[in-house]
Formats: sequence, structure tokens, C-alpha cells
Amino acid sequence: MFPEIRLRRLRRTPEIRAMFDAPPPPASKFVWPVFVVAGDKRREPIDAMPGQFRMSIDTLIRELEPVVAQGVGGVLLFGQCEDDAQKDGDGTEAYNPRGVVQRAIPELKRAYPGLVVMTDVCLCAYTSHGHCGPLRPDGSVENDAANALLAKVALSHAEAGADVVAPSAMMDGQILEIRETLDDHDMQDTLLMAYSSKFASSMYGPFRDAENSEPGQGDRKGYQASYANLRAALRESEFDEEEGADILMVKPALFYLDVLQKIREASDLPVAAYNVSGEYSMLIAAAERGWGNLMDMVRESLMAIDRAGADLFLSYWAPRYREIFTT
Ligand code: PBG
Ligand code: ZN
Repeated sequence: MFPEIRLRRLRRTPEIRAMFDAPPPPASKFVWPVFVVAGDKRREPIDAMPGQFRMSIDTLIRELEPVVAQGVGGVLLFGQCEDDAQKDGDGTEAYNPRGVVQRAIPELKRAYPGLVVMTDVCLCAYTSHGHCGPLRPDGSVENDAANALLAKVALSHAEAGADVVAPSAMMDGQILEIRETLDDHDMQDTLLMAYSSKFASSMYGPFRDAENSEPGQGDRKGYQASYANLRAALRESEFDEEEGADILMVKPALFYLDVLQKIREASDLPVAAYNVSGEYSMLIAAAERGWGNLMDMVRESLMAIDRAGADLFLSYWAPRYREIFTT
């Protein structure tokens, strides 16, 4: 005890601290979620996410060059409809083999063969009602019909060459159905990353602005996990592991570090953390008001996700990796 023991000795100088501090997670563990749109030379700013853009495939390939040069491991692709007229009750545009995501995958692979290409598998950006599956007359999402559609979407991405497909709809049995569909079509090598413990969160607002995927009526609380029911949220990840997921996920990340740590301890699968749009935009908003230094806040938040045990960082900060960890 004090005075013999003095903890400050281990942090007296920057050099001593550097010896004992954990290193930052490597760039190879970062994945950049990106919004892909049809057309050429498009680069449209997303109001609610300063610094992020809706990009056509050619723009994305150009913008990726400095990102890949930093060693960032992958991208997570989100597509969308050209206009609301393309949307329908089932979100059929989501599995169009000539859809924007399906076309982007081989082009990205050609430009950057080593980049890990992941795709979000959901219907909400493609359904006229904005929910993650087709609706029953009472307005609830029809689980098993959604699974059949999600399997078509995942298969279309796998056949286009995606390394990882990531279903985010939170339907019961979606992992099993997708795994079986991929196996039936000889796509055994495609990794399946389950958005396994995905919460009905108010931190997805900026993303829904980017994707134009806000439900017209109701909310997603009937399918996404409740943040007030920890045990049910943990079971979601357990079941996805049993159904054949290769990678689990906790989403959002920063408000759910306890969940991340618990799943990391309960499973031997890799666990991804999705540092979501609201978590990104709120730090920017605070910094813009002069209420904190942006890079310092970002670094601290990413190190928190690292401490909780994330194996993979899905983050809009990925393209600024070098700036974040070298200032
Ligand atoms: C689609 C999906 C969402 C996000 C990822 N996939 C939105 C939602 O569930 O409403 C959120 C990502 C973010 O906020 O960064 N199901
Ligand atoms: Zn969805």
C-alpha cells in the first residue's frame, strides 16, 4: 500500500506509458461501411453524417485508394434504390443480380483483390414500407417470408463474389436459412456474419437518412432486440452461433460494451462491433460545438471498443485510421 506502492511511476513519461499501454487495434481489423448508388461520378454528401457520401462505384473505387493504402481490412456495402418507384412490398430490387451492390462487388475485387468485401443483407432500403421484411395485413413483419427473401439477397451477393454476407434484419432463423441456401448453391466458402445482438436503437437515425430506410409506419421494436432485456439479447447471439454464423456482432457498440464483453466471453467465435451512424455523428456534433477534440474523442471511443474485446471494428472512422492513431 501507499506510500511504498505508487502507481504513477508506471505512467511518469510518454516513453514509459508507451511501453505498457495496449497498442491500438490494427487497421486490418477495421471495415468501412459505405453507401453505394447507381450512376457515374456521384459523390453526394450525407447531411446527418458529415464526411460520409453516397458514392457511385467509380467514385468508391477512387476514394478507397488512400483507405486501402492505410491497411484498412474491408468494406461493408449498403445499396439502395434509385427512386421510390423501384421499391415494392417484398423489396425485390435487393436481389436483382444487376443491382448496384451485385455490380459493385466484382469491380471492387478487380480493383483491390485483397480487400475483404462484405455486404449488408436486408430489405428495408428496398421495401415500400421501409421494414426489414414483408408485412402482414396487421402491419407486423412476416418472419418466414422475410427469411426466404433474405436468402435470395445473400445468395445474389455471394454469387457476385462477396467474401462476407451480413444479414441485419433480426428475423428468427435467418442465419440457418441463409446457410442452407448458400450450401445448396455450392457457396460453402462465403462467410456469414450475423448482426446477432442488434438492438432497436435510436442511434441509427443518421444511417436511415443516408439510406432512405426509415419505416413509414411503426418501428423495428418487434424484431430488433430490446436494450432492456439483456438475457434475450445474449440468446440472439447464442442462437445465431448454433444456426451456423461464422462471426457474431454487437450493434451499436459504444452503448453496449457490456454486451460485447459478455458475448466475447461466452463464445469462441469472432465478435464484431458496429460503431453505428449515431455514434459517429454525435462526436462530430460535439467537436463542431467546440466541446471536445474530435480525434481524441474518436481514439478514446475506439480503444473502449477494443478493451471490451472486439475482434472487428465496423466503423465510419475507418478511412481516417492513420490520423486517429498517430496524433
Ligand atoms: C438495416 C441496417 C441498419 C443499420 C445497418 N443495417 C438500420 C436499421 O436497422 O434501421 C444501421 C447502421 C448505422 O446506424 O450505422 N437493417
Ligand atoms: Zn433492415
